[in-house]
Amino acid sequence: MKSTITGILLFLFINVSFAGEGMWLPLFLKSLNEAEMQQMGMKLTAEDIYNVNRGSLKDAIVHFGGFCTSELISAEGLLLTNHHCGYGQIQNHSTLEKNYLKKGFWAMNRGEELANPGLTATFINEIIDVSERVLKQVDENMTTSERQAVISKNLSKVEADIKREAYQDVSIRPFFNGNQYFAFITTTYRDIRLVGAPPESIGKYGSDTDNWVWPRHTGDFSLFRIYAAPDNLPADYSEENVPYKSKHYLPISIDGVEKGDFTMVFGFPGRTQEYLPSVAIKEITEVLNPAKISIREKALSIIDKYMRANEEIRIQYASKYARVANYWKKWIGESTGLTKTKAYQKKKGFEKEFTKRLPKDSPYRNILPQFDQLYKERTPLAYVRDYYSEVAGRNIEIMRVSQMADRLVSSYEDNGEARFNSYRERMITSLESFYKNYRPEIDMEVFEALTKMYSDNVDAKYAPKLMKSGNREDDNGRNMISGSYLLNKTVFNKKSEMMNLLAGDAESVVNAIKADPLYIFSKSWKEVFDKEVAKPLSAIEFQIDSLQRIYMKAQMETFPKRKFYPDANSTMRVTYGKVNGYNPSDAVYYEPVTYLEGVIEKYKPGDYEFDVSDKMLKLFENKDYGQYADRNGKLPICFIGTNHTTGGNSGSPAIDAHGNLIGLNFDRAWEGTMSDYNYDPSICRNIMVDARYILFVIDKYAGAKHLIDEMSLVHPKKN
Ligand code: ARG
Ligand code: GLU
Repeated sequence: MKSTITGILLFLFINVSFAGEGMWLPLFLKSLNEAEMQQMGMKLTAEDIYNVNRGSLKDAIVHFGGFCTSELISAEGLLLTNHHCGYGQIQNHSTLEKNYLKKGFWAMNRGEELANPGLTATFINEIIDVSERVLKQVDENMTTSERQAVISKNLSKVEADIKREAYQDVSIRPFFNGNQYFAFITTTYRDIRLVGAPPESIGKYGSDTDNWVWPRHTGDFSLFRIYAAPDNLPADYSEENVPYKSKHYLPISIDGVEKGDFTMVFGFPGRTQEYLPSVAIKEITEVLNPAKISIREKALSIIDKYMRANEEIRIQYASKYARVANYWKKWIGESTGLTKTKAYQKKKGFEKEFTKRLPKDSPYRNILPQFDQLYKERTPLAYVRDYYSEVAGRNIEIMRVSQMADRLVSSYEDNGEARFNSYRERMITSLESFYKNYRPEIDMEVFEALTKMYSDNVDAKYAPKLMKSGNREDDNGRNMISGSYLLNKTVFNKKSEMMNLLAGDAESVVNAIKADPLYIFSKSWKEVFDKEVAKPLSAIEFQIDSLQRIYMKAQMETFPKRKFYPDANSTMRVTYGKVNGYNPSDAVYYEPVTYLEGVIEKYKPGDYEFDVSDKMLKLFENKDYGQYADRNGKLPICFIGTNHTTGGNSGSPAIDAHGNLIGLNFDRAWEGTMSDYNYDPSICRNIMVDARYILFVIDKYAGAKHLIDEMSLVHPKKN
């Protein structure tokens, strides 16, 4: 019985390419994926998706700001991405009188489109396999350092040799843990204007409560436009610039989706680790995730208490809270999913089969025992690293001021007055925005609670003297680590005093910083951390990385028939699957499509997460959906599919069998977020806004019909 189960798990693991799993390089679709995609219903060829000699789908896929994905949906550079991807820009343009977050924003003509300095949009012109050139003269007997030296020499040469236009960039990235290398020729546009955004009651509907959750009812989209110089090439913002002329853009299908339809998601997934050994999965579920979750839980509970009591604080902390809560919630789902799908046991089964296939004298036989040994050394240190980075680096806000102060001190001591002055200027700008949304009383309570967690849960040898339990006083008997002490004694949490301090001459600024108790405390903490944790850990991780590269190679050689896809690394990828529901638990089935009825069900008048505008209520009452209704007469909102996505895929288009846009990716279903380590087709689902809801909001809700007119709406299912 036991062996049948292992057998089944093994079968699933080895025959990895069942519909859904994989983030594939567009370059290899022809050889690896085309046949399967067509068998799943796709009517396109690999060349229709990626082709460097003529227009193809890839010319419509744009890396948005380097952190999200977006796509062209008109001949005139109109870009679609998520509301949460454009959130910073929408917020920047908002004031109390013109609150675009609350009311939405719609440019009624080109002149009203708003510039966003610093925002970029990047096209991929060509992907080139440069593995052979980068790995020239590398041999397997080299030490890791020797290998790296050869590679870095080759890299600069290969990069210099790649032909490109003056306006293009090249970057070369490692794949499969450094077993392969690919070069990307890119073109980056720098004048990207905001065109439209729905109000938060649509674009952020359900907010944190519904984040990572299915069934979902969020219209998470916003619109931008790429502007170019008159020759259609990149240029800094200028009034002379004109809308970019698209080489290719996605037509939009308004025929809708149903269970079983082919879907493809095209974008820039950020980071996955699918080929780790089982010990690493154990480390994540048993040690690292529980630590990070508990720290954030504590911090969130404190912030939440203040937000609920005070409206002004609620606004000040809303975006910070959302950022901390996003990954807190993700890790909970991830651990749940890894446990539920027996990811550890599955990896174990795979490792058994891997070892069985190796010849008796294979050097690869050492890999797994070596991993066991290295992770044994790594885990306690990685635990402290995560503890430190969550507590000191992430959740106690004032530590950021301390870091800047430290940089200011060393810029003076290492480089003199000129550097000091230029860094001081930047620091003052950062502090202006830091203090705008800062409440010392909240932060000091977080300080108190989290430093206590650190000293309770981390071995005393990794804590600064000033933190050790029972020894919480400095040499003068002052209680240095209490938040209430710091609330009064440090200057760093008081804007006007801090700005005053910074206004002095270099010498006195440095002296004042060095005398601040928070500075003394955080500096000693960092010193202990660097010496006792960061340094030994990086030596171990150097060995783990090198072993992971060999393990990757060994997996590929040992399973020659299996199709491997490289881990996500923020480069362009294609994933495909089908529209499908799932069983989250016994006796429960989730349908794959949600409707406006669900928005109304969740509606809580006046609530900041679930309020619905009168306008929307009226459209619902009159069932005034125009051409955007589903066949059943209802207005579709979101749908899910088996596409393998991760962070960075936000804003990626969901594309139908014919190459038309049918939806906009923005999230994953909770338990399925473990697909970053272990994709499982039974529960891994990506969440997309239905294209028809997007069009409905633009057209019927916002009355921005002129934007609809520049798109191409199509009926592929009717033809
Ligand atoms: N979970 C989605 C993604 O990582 C959406 C995040 C933004 N929304 C939010 N409520 N925090 O990143
Ligand atoms: N919201 C995520 C993003 O910003 C996508 C969700 C996921 O991690 O799949 O990219």
